[in-house]
Amino acid sequence: MMRELELQKAFMLVEPGPVTMVSTSLEGRANVMTLTWITVLDWTPRFALCTGAWNYSFEALVKTGECVVGIATADLVETILDVGTVSGREVDKFTRFELTPLPASHVAAPLIGECYANIECRVADHIKRHNIFVLEGIKAWTNPAHRDKRLLHAVGDGTFTADGEVFHRRVRMGDKLPPGV
Ligand SMILES: Cc1cc2nc3c(=O)[nH]c(=O)nc-3n(C[C@H](O)[C@H](O)[C@H](O)COP(=O)(O)O)c2cc1C
Repeated sequence: MMRELELQKAFMLVEPGPVTMVSTSLEGRANVMTLTWITVLDWTPRFALCTGAWNYSFEALVKTGECVVGIATADLVETILDVGTVSGREVDKFTRFELTPLPASHVAAPLIGECYANIECRVADHIKRHNIFVLEGIKAWTNPAHRDKRLLHAVGDGTFTADGEVFHRRVRMGDKLPPGV
């Protein structure tokens, strides 16, 4: 039998996409934030993320129109809390948290060496009313040598989960899968 769930908890049913770390570079200074409000929009490398003027990264996103989305894995659970609880306004987070900025190909924002994967992105649209940035992925990277490939998911109440069992259903998905995946 269904029981009513407090409406303020409804976001927790949808929240657990991958935890990401988003890097930016403003006037030669690299910064990084933790971000979980991100979604794919379709099969193209187009994403929407949500952030606003309360974060320093917002200013860099608006002024440079660029960022890198780094994909966090379970081994980075303490790092994503470090990076998501202090502001680049006060701290050089790459130095403080011993993160490795690697040069990207198309954007000034650095790849994050500790991430399993990184996507270089340009801002395609900024929907101000909802603090949504639509991103166009322009180059993607993965590190096959990264040992822990379990994606990390924030539940929204301060708990986190990591990927576990994998269900292989490629045949049943049939033509619902895009070419090349
Ligand atoms: C697990 C986690 C998830 C977060 N997700 C988001 C998010 O989706 N959007 C957002 O604006 N801030 C999010 N934050 C908060 C920012 O990471 C945080 O405000 C950070 O200090 C901003 O850094 P900045 O001021 O250097 O940009 C999250 C923080 C944590 C710890």
